Amino acid sequence: MFGKVKASASKNATLPILAACLLTDKTCVIKKVPILQDVKTMIGLLKALGADVTLDDNNLTIHAGNDLALEAPYEIVSKMRASYYVLGPLLARFHKAKVYLPGGCAIGPRPIDLHIKGMESLGASVRIEHGYIATEAPVLKGTNILLEGSLGPSVGATANVMMAATLSHGTTTIISAALEPEIVDLANFLNTLGAKIEGAGSSNIKITGVKELNGGEWTPIPDRIEVGTLACAAIVTQGHIEIENCLPEHLGVVIMKFKEMGCDISETDTSIIINSKYRAKASSIVTAPFPGFPTDLQAQFMSALVTAEGISFVTENIFKSRFLHALELNRMGAKINIEDNVAIVTGVEKLSGAKVMASDLRASAALVIAGLSAQGETEVSRIYHLDRGYEQLETKLQNLGAKIERVAGKN
Ligand code: EPU
Repeated sequence: MFGKVKASASKNATLPILAACLLTDKTCVIKKVPILQDVKTMIGLLKALGADVTLDDNNLTIHAGNDLALEAPYEIVSKMRASYYVLGPLLARFHKAKVYLPGGCAIGPRPIDLHIKGMESLGASVRIEHGYIATEAPVLKGTNILLEGSLGPSVGATANVMMAATLSHGTTTIISAALEPEIVDLANFLNTLGAKIEGAGSSNIKITGVKELNGGEWTPIPDRIEVGTLACAAIVTQGHIEIENCLPEHLGVVIMKFKEMGCDISETDTSIIINSKYRAKASSIVTAPFPGFPTDLQAQFMSALVTAEGISFVTENIFKSRFLHALELNRMGAKINIEDNVAIVTGVEKLSGAKVMASDLRASAALVIAGLSAQGETEVSRIYHLDRGYEQLETKLQNLGAKIERVAGKN
């Protein structure tokens, strides 16, 4: 693969930012949003709640007036876990919210105890009944909240509690907050609306409640996971590509790992160039909260390791059973053994194309990457998973010279 490609804005930054627009009755304009299925689902949710949302190119104008429904319907929440991001904003602005519980998913159990703990700490009552979470509070009161779970900080709970606390009385400090760039982006957006948030990007985030928020404009940060995905595709095809619209500072460990694999990488402030001339070398990763290696790149990185020279260890610490892609990669000739939360990857010279099935968003990207390097044809089914989180990935890959097509009538 050769040439230039532009990364889209981050899905995981855009989703909470769209939900945050419910915190104000003024108009918000979110620019250059990635038009992918999860964003469409969030737009559907905002509309179902009664907000006016218009899309012009990739720019969204959102106006959440004072007459909103306070219940997120099951039909939407069951499609996307991140629907729970409306809980904090609705509770803060309307003192009441009800969201159907998202349940588990293919990457393993995904509890919401920290979201509940955060809302309760702010003084809300929380009931879980009939498959939904209902929360109420005549007034939210600022306090210190330790948001650390058994697996460390939670991105979703940090975002939800931060949004709720923007309209609380007094000061809230989230201790052991998630450090992810998407949290910093959400805090920066909220601050442009008039929120008072300090320390986002560190483990202690201080939020001083304000009475109301204004409208505003925002462009979410580039998608670091899409950048990593495109880079893995370049590595397996021994390509030379430049990825524009990216912030290399969000990919520190990932870039180091690519270098460890023998790749030439150069960076500017807003782009990276990946030059992968030779067969990659083995490299081991351990997923961890930011700034560690992101779990959302584990599957795609594994697809690059299966044909690397030597033995690599892939340790998954965030979603411990997020390895369904490994079984499909083995069907393509990879040699991966799973022991608990560790995948041991013995590099093979070549994969062979096969019919494979995607199990979740990042697994589907991993199978596409594997297909690019495999001998013969690979057919990836269930690509609706891919469409949830990537904007026109196949077109971007085609423009870089990959032989990939979406087959009409299949999904
Ligand atoms: N956790 C708890 N209790 C909670 C919440 C989380 O124990 O109340 C645990 C989880 O089970 C997990 C760990 O904490 O082991 C981290 O989960 P986190 O809450 O940080 O994940 P999330 O907010 O549900 C977001 C991304 C995921 C990404 C994770 C980790 C969005 C919409 N989703 O999920 O993205 O894997 O952070 O970085 O931002 C993806 O894009 O493919 C994806 C799955």
